[in-house]
Amino acid sequence: MVASELTDKEGSGFGERLAGGGGKGYLKAKKWRRMRSSIDWGKPSRVAGLIVLVSAFSLKEARERGVFLFMRSDVIGCWRKWSGVLVAAAGLALVLPGAHGAAGSLISKGPYLQAPASDTMLIMWESLADLPGKVRFGVEGQPDAEVGDVRPRMIKTATAGATNAVKVGAAPREFYIYEAALKDLKPGETYHYSVEFAGVRTATNHFKAFNPGAERVRFIAYGDSRSYPEAHARLTARFRQHAPDFILHTGDIVARGRDYTLWAREFFNPMANVINEAPFFPVIGNHEGDGTNYLAYFHPPGQRLWYSLDVGPAHVLGLDYRFTRSDSEQFRFAANDLMTSRAPWKIVMFHKPVFNIGGHVSDWGQTNYLPLFYRTKMDLVLAGHSHMYERFHPVAPRGERDWAITHITTGGGGAELYDSFDHPSLAVRESAHHYMVLEATRDALQARAIRDDGTLLDSFELKKTDGRMAADYLAQVYPEELLKLFYAATPSLASRVASPPGTNAPARLSLNLKPLAGWPAPARLEITLAPQSAPYYELEDPPLRATTPLTGQTNLAVWTTVRATGKRAITMNSDQELRPPLVLMAKVRCGEEETIAYGAPCRLAKTAATAADKP
Ligand SMILES: [Fe+2]
Repeated sequence: MVASELTDKEGSGFGERLAGGGGKGYLKAKKWRRMRSSIDWGKPSRVAGLIVLVSAFSLKEARERGVFLFMRSDVIGCWRKWSGVLVAAAGLALVLPGAHGAAGSLISKGPYLQAPASDTMLIMWESLADLPGKVRFGVEGQPDAEVGDVRPRMIKTATAGATNAVKVGAAPREFYIYEAALKDLKPGETYHYSVEFAGVRTATNHFKAFNPGAERVRFIAYGDSRSYPEAHARLTARFRQHAPDFILHTGDIVARGRDYTLWAREFFNPMANVINEAPFFPVIGNHEGDGTNYLAYFHPPGQRLWYSLDVGPAHVLGLDYRFTRSDSEQFRFAANDLMTSRAPWKIVMFHKPVFNIGGHVSDWGQTNYLPLFYRTKMDLVLAGHSHMYERFHPVAPRGERDWAITHITTGGGGAELYDSFDHPSLAVRESAHHYMVLEATRDALQARAIRDDGTLLDSFELKKTDGRMAADYLAQVYPEELLKLFYAATPSLASRVASPPGTNAPARLSLNLKPLAGWPAPARLEITLAPQSAPYYELEDPPLRATTPLTGQTNLAVWTTVRATGKRAITMNSDQELRPPLVLMAKVRCGEEETIAYGAPCRLAKTAATAADKP
């Protein structure tokens, strides 16, 4: 794709436009008022509209479309008089090809690109109508190939009958997914295509057929685009300028995957002018729920929940975070995939990070997948879930001198941001909405993280010579053992208060020190406030020094007092956490090992009062 060629495509069919209409602007106001009072357009036009619809669809389908149209008309508050006109207009639009522009398309999502291979591309779209579709395609100026009579899969809307899903707006009972497979493509060739559906042809879009033999490949990676479509759209508005060969998404695409209405608002609308020309490869996140809609919309190659792709010098493995066991089908797939890949760069993505200092402090896959990644020489791990950017120094176990892995948390795709924290394992961290642009050649993997205002958040380059990592890269290694110490100490730093602290009313703050999981020796802790909390709280006589119990011993309660500085009012959120957050950090020392750890935000809890009552 060429950035300069990319312009906004009008009428690509996003949103539900069936309730549009009106068109009284050419009438003078006075004349219009007279006509309006004398003519009831509702009844005759309703009859005409229904007749047209019945002739366009089967009786059952017409009834369902009619119900939907009336529902939409009710939303705009004038269905009594004008619903018939709207029905008639929609019906005429269906049976009169070319009677309206692309803006009248019955395509409700898409078209968008999926499942590319060197000689195929899948063009997908969604509609609420069950009608045959067609795709015309070819090289520029020669759209002489066609995939005709494309028939849909019917998907029952996940929200229908669901008890735990929240409806944001009106959702249909079912929708239809169309997949047109373009075949016999030439690798690396640019193709133009348009979809013909219900008598409307979409704007012409183009894509580049996948080229496994390409010397260079450029792609975007990001995650957690859910909940705030405006923030998501600020990022996606910049995607085209990078002309990506494809886009990776580390999950949490929408806030509630079972909610049909969110897919348009939070994903397909902000991505409308991107995924029509760049194939999209996601992995499932926890917000995708049971994956019903996720699997309806996305068609990754091979297996649907875990898969891999090769493009030029890059090999990308996508995994489902829900499967962590080494005896799972996914693990067997991953092991075989990574052991057989000879690609210069191996990249894996999944939703929850293996290493993560801020946010959820995720530790996904440390037991089974991380050893596999070392064994198969993984270069880069991409994850999201925590809404921030974190780039770790290369991580490797002590004694490993030839290989290290760069871990990235790229969860800044639009969801509410979480605080990020300094840590000696982190090269760069920031709480910012962002996306990544990566470019791979045989000898180098360049990466940039770009904020939503277009400024550069981070850039780095991995290099290899004859498959060997550069010495200066290996010299930056942060030992995996110290990150494990961070995880072992973190549970001991979750604090609780019996009452919200005031400036003149200090509160007792308690900690419940636990034995270090996996460590034979206790850790000495020097506990202070995290820098983010220091402006708003004061601990009495810091640092608080304590030693964790030995393995097998019971937990140890310690406490101190905390007061507010008065710089900001102290409140409580719905999870009973203090706001601004009160986060403790500690210098953690266990034998010769030393690192930094942070606790979960301080909560109000009765157990804190119990601890404070002890002598
Ligand atoms: Fe998540």
